[in-house]
Amino acid sequence: DSQTRLKAIIDTAIDGIITIDRHGVIETMNPAAARIFGYEPEECIGQNVSILMPEPDRSLHDKYIENYHRTGVGQIIGKGREVLGKKKDGTVFPFRLSISEVNLQDKQLFTGIVHDITELKKAEAALRESE
Ligand code: HEM
Repeated sequence: DSQTRLKAIIDTAIDGIITIDRHGVIETMNPAAARIFGYEPEECIGQNVSILMPEPDRSLHDKYIENYHRTGVGQIIGKGREVLGKKKDGTVFPFRLSISEVNLQDKQLFTGIVHDITELKKAEAALRESE
């Protein structure tokens, strides 16, 4: 059925897909997102998404979401941004984050797409050094 197909697509995606509730609590994480951040999905579900980022964003992320609810203006929604993530082992790495807002009948959630750009950044640095 269509739900099985959709799950297969999300489970095999290369990019990480994370959903959070309106307060920033992780509800779902696909296998790619778990691999990128070095966790098992079960370790993250129910935790604040801020566990996946270094300071200063880690302490500010709840405020970012609150500002969005108050003003309706998003800094990343609809635009995307390069941000830093933090893996379970403490490694900080760059990724491209896209966020979309999903308004279901009874609840609001946010979907984040995580595209790791560690290798791209390394290649760019090597290119600069060779110039
Ligand atoms: C806003 C950082 C992951 C949902 C923001 C902002 C930053 C940020 C810098 C905008 C702050 C501002 O200028 O107002 C990060 C970092 C992440 C991360 C470093 C690394 C893990 C996520 C994920 C989601 C998410 C995975 C969703 C699943 C949101 C929402 C907002 C936001 C809903 C408010 C709307 C907006 O500004 O577009 N985040 N974020 N964030 N983030 Fe994150």
